[in-house]
Amino acid sequence: MSVTDLEPAVWPMTAARSAEGVLTLGGVDVRDLAAQFGTPSYVLDEVDFRSRCTAWRDAFSGADVYYAGKAFLCTTVARWVAEEGLSLDVCTGGELAVALAAGFPVERLLFHGNNKSVAELARAVDAGVGRIVIDSFEELVRLAAAAERAGVRQAVYLRVTPGVEAHTHEYVATGQEDQKFGFSLASGAAAEAVRRVLGLPALELVGLHCHIGSHIFDTRGFSLAAHRMVGLLGDIRDEHGVELPELDLGGGLGIAYTAADDPMPVKEVADGLRAIVERECAAASLAVPRLAVEPGRAIAGPTTVTLYEVGTVKDLPGLRTYVSIDGGMSDNIRTALYDARYTAVLASRRSTAEPRNVTLCGKHCESGDIVVHDVPLAADLAPGDLVAVPASGAYHRSMASNYNHVPRPPVVVVRDGSARVIVRRETEDDLLRLDIP
Ligand code: LLP
Repeated sequence: MSVTDLEPAVWPMTAARSAEGVLTLGGVDVRDLAAQFGTPSYVLDEVDFRSRCTAWRDAFSGADVYYAGKAFLCTTVARWVAEEGLSLDVCTGGELAVALAAGFPVERLLFHGNNKSVAELARAVDAGVGRIVIDSFEELVRLAAAAERAGVRQAVYLRVTPGVEAHTHEYVATGQEDQKFGFSLASGAAAEAVRRVLGLPALELVGLHCHIGSHIFDTRGFSLAAHRMVGLLGDIRDEHGVELPELDLGGGLGIAYTAADDPMPVKEVADGLRAIVERECAAASLAVPRLAVEPGRAIAGPTTVTLYEVGTVKDLPGLRTYVSIDGGMSDNIRTALYDARYTAVLASRRSTAEPRNVTLCGKHCESGDIVVHDVPLAADLAPGDLVAVPASGAYHRSMASNYNHVPRPPVVVVRDGSARVIVRRETEDDLLRLDIP
């Protein structure tokens, strides 16, 4: 094997093959990572993560880039995001707690969620969260009460559903009418929410928000959403004489999980969105609002490789070969949940054996526990070999579970030839800690 089996769009920027053919990440040999930290482990390339932050910041200069913490969040990552000049989107009290524990600048926090509790809203207001995105009529009232109690005027966005069908998996499409999030534009609910929020002195409506879905490649959906949102800004100006100064167009840009995926570069997405908003605003004689975006997957996804050890190889002649690794659907639920496609490589050695298609499966007690379908791996793959799955930084650790009482893997950061743990591996004691005999 040579470096050519590491498709650049799919692997973190420091991934390479050593002279011996061993995968290195951040300059660290994966055999050393496995020996020191065990398997499975999520291995996060710090340089790659930070460079994606700066690419988004630069492409969207003059706009606010909120990293969507739901993709992956821990205190170290929150600090990197702050250091690289990005803002942070949190969507639960738990994510807010991580941001606060990391000392994230509160004015750069944005708080989402279709059912934030009264306690979560109060906590966000009290903490001084910069923007809270209102998702429902009930929340308007609850948030106004929390702001009044705290004696502050809370800056808010309204989440609008622009009626755009994003071409993505139905579980992660959020722009269409039939779904739980936000105020519908078409039904007039969004216009009604604007009327109500403008009548609540404890809330300051600073902008509108939309998010049409996740893992999107066809950027026409973003364009249509931007067009409709600017239309609503124009309607608001006409009805209320108010020009809202901000427009948040959400996240959702897809990434390459395999060489077949071809996402649009962030610079092109940014330039395209800016051009549409400028054109539509000029047509409506509106001042161009300050834009905001909320990338999660596009920043965290490509930064991380999951390292597994092969345990068993079951060959079914004429049918299939099952290669079982020491993790599975508890550390990567995306294959089972969204029928997601991944690639994988033999990481711990070079092999001259012909590749053959195998099913990379986990150790959990169900047949749907597959990590990678039909992936070509060397025919001499054997127990003890290390296998690496790239593009596993977004919605992997953050959606990991303890199914079958499997402790969740650590997150190990690699950089400049050294490695350190930023989220430790769970232990069986951790699992038992909540158990009351
Ligand atoms: N903003 C809002 C309001 C969101 O709901 C999301 C994602 C984002 C931003 C970030 O979207 P991204 O840039 O990461 O696509 N678990 C699924 C993805 C769920 C996305 C949820 N919301 C998956 O693994 O594909």
